[in-house]
Amino acid sequence: MNYRHAFHAGSAADVLKHVVLLETLDRVLQKPKPLFALDTHAGEGLYRLQAEGEADEGIRRLWDRRAEWPPLARYFEAVGRFNGPKLRDYPGSPLLIAGQLRPEDRFVAVEGARETHDALQQVLPPEQGQIFLGDGYHALKALLPPKERRGVILIDPPYEQVTERSALLTGLRTALERFPQGIYLIWYPIKDKHDADRLVTAVSALGQETLCVELLTWPPDVKNRLNGSGLVILNPPYGLKKRLGEVVPTLAQILTRDGTPRYRIR
Ligand SMILES: C[S@@+](CC[C@H](N)C(=O)[O-])C[C@H]1O[C@@H](n2cnc3c(N)ncnc32)[C@H](O)[C@@H]1O
Repeated sequence: MNYRHAFHAGSAADVLKHVVLLETLDRVLQKPKPLFALDTHAGEGLYRLQAEGEADEGIRRLWDRRAEWPPLARYFEAVGRFNGPKLRDYPGSPLLIAGQLRPEDRFVAVEGARETHDALQQVLPPEQGQIFLGDGYHALKALLPPKERRGVILIDPPYEQVTERSALLTGLRTALERFPQGIYLIWYPIKDKHDADRLVTAVSALGQETLCVELLTWPPDVKNRLNGSGLVILNPPYGLKKRLGEVVPTLAQILTRDGTPRYRIR
């Protein structure tokens, strides 16, 4: 396991993922019943932004002009909790999730790399969430269904291994057998459009209601490390699609690298 998220922290892909995550939680937390949240590939939790990291094409493009984009106020407020007036640190998904939950909710973060797991332990207090060192796909089997019967599950693998997609689909199948009503957010990279479409089709074929949101920062035919990213959401909460229609066009406008905003919500 070689993947280190630090260089990618605050990238355009992180921005999209975290905006969608927060908007999802926002909707789900409007109901008073306790919620279970699971982050299967948690990462370090808090990242010191690097001088020439991918944040230059992500959060740094947005931050200084944040007052101009009220639809993204929700996201800026969450990132702002970890910063003074100057942007220095970027919160990863476990801190963003823990920051939204109420005392009656429960959060589990799973991380596969020991060093990364230990770093997360330094920034996520035990009362805000339980942290496990292990395989996030195994956690789908071990931790579902939750006693709360309501859950949001973020699955954010690094896609470094050729076996990642089959592990993801197997894990999801098991998860859905155990907890079909869970809300699952699955992040994926877009390097090759057809490849990304195949993954979405395979996930959609699992039978749940699906919402898919994609944002390309480069045109699809430019050869790049990453042309964009997307999330497929199973059992999306009511109102999420409409809300994403309000925030994603703004994001696409700010994050495009060639002046043309490109996004898809379907
Ligand atoms: C993309 S990063 C996570 C970023 C984080 N979710 C966020 O949004 O801030 C992926 C993480 O998954 C970890 N990882 C890789 N394979 C794993 C597995 N099978 N189970 C759990 N964690 C794994 C990597 O060590 C890495 O920290």
